[in-house]
Amino acid sequence: MRFKDKAVVVTGGGKGIGRAVSLAFGSEGARVLIGFSSDERAAAETAEDIRKSGAEAAACRVDVTRKSECEAFVDMAVELFGRIDICVNNAGVSTMNWVVDLTEEEWDFNMDVNAKGVFLSCQKEVKQFLSQGGGGRIVNVASIAAKRPAMLLAHYAASKYAVLGFSKTLAQEVAQHGITVNCVCPGFVRTAMQEREVGWEAKLRGLSREKVLEEYISATPLGRLEEPEDVASVVLFLASDDAGFMTGQAINVAGGTEMAV
Ligand SMILES: NC(=O)c1ccc[n+]([C@@H]2O[C@H](COP(=O)([O-])OP(=O)(O)OC[C@H]3O[C@@H](n4cnc5c(N)ncnc54)[C@H](O)[C@@H]3O)[C@@H](O)[C@H]2O)c1
Repeated sequence: MRFKDKAVVVTGGGKGIGRAVSLAFGSEGARVLIGFSSDERAAAETAEDIRKSGAEAAACRVDVTRKSECEAFVDMAVELFGRIDICVNNAGVSTMNWVVDLTEEEWDFNMDVNAKGVFLSCQKEVKQFLSQGGGGRIVNVASIAAKRPAMLLAHYAASKYAVLGFSKTLAQEVAQHGITVNCVCPGFVRTAMQEREVGWEAKLRGLSREKVLEEYISATPLGRLEEPEDVASVVLFLASDDAGFMTGQAINVAGGTEMAV
């Protein structure tokens, strides 16, 4: 029970990686507020699953592209739990296209949710940590696309590179207050996002879905698709006391797909 009674917020916490993170914190005794934008039912189910395991959990709407909602989300956690200890900024989107065909709308959509969403979330979270007297853990979910080329995902890669640059700078600014800011960089994770991407990539490159999935696996030295739980366990490590002297790091959790730091 590494996180007994710790107050945790997870954006996009009802599905995919966010759900695995929320459940993992719940299983270690944390109190979890799960953010959802469009998928209220999934978030409510995840909260219910955590409550069944004996921990405290609730779900709350938050569109991370809206400053007022990011603020209200943290305020809700404080109302429920009295404080926040750990924030996992996981909400994210992707679309796929060749750069020559990429629309401004696609660019803005990816940058708004993935980059601006992390900024707005972190800003409120840090203000709350400071009002509590300092201390606190932030883990931002980036991607290996923040470190290497990702065909058809130039706009997404740009948004995730932005997450790394922002997180490292924030880590430097808030270290004096005992707040750590780290990122995880997942690879090819079996979620609804991957399902959508496999379909787009197959169409855009004229391949079968099976061939696209084969390519993902062959790009992964450990030889299988990644599971949301593979990411969750590293998120929990970064939020734990064991990682107390780590900040400004971007940890690859990708079966060896990316080996550079
Ligand atoms: N699946 C992968 O292969 C993979 C790889 C690397 C990084 N990631 C990152 O992991 C994170 C989670 O992705 P996932 O694979 O679980 O995808 P997913 O589509 O299953 O989940 C994404 C979550 O983000 C939420 N979300 C989307 N827009 C939002 C908004 N405006 N405000 C609040 N929430 C919003 C969704 O509702 C959903 O709950 C994302 O940041 C994604 O970029 C995923």
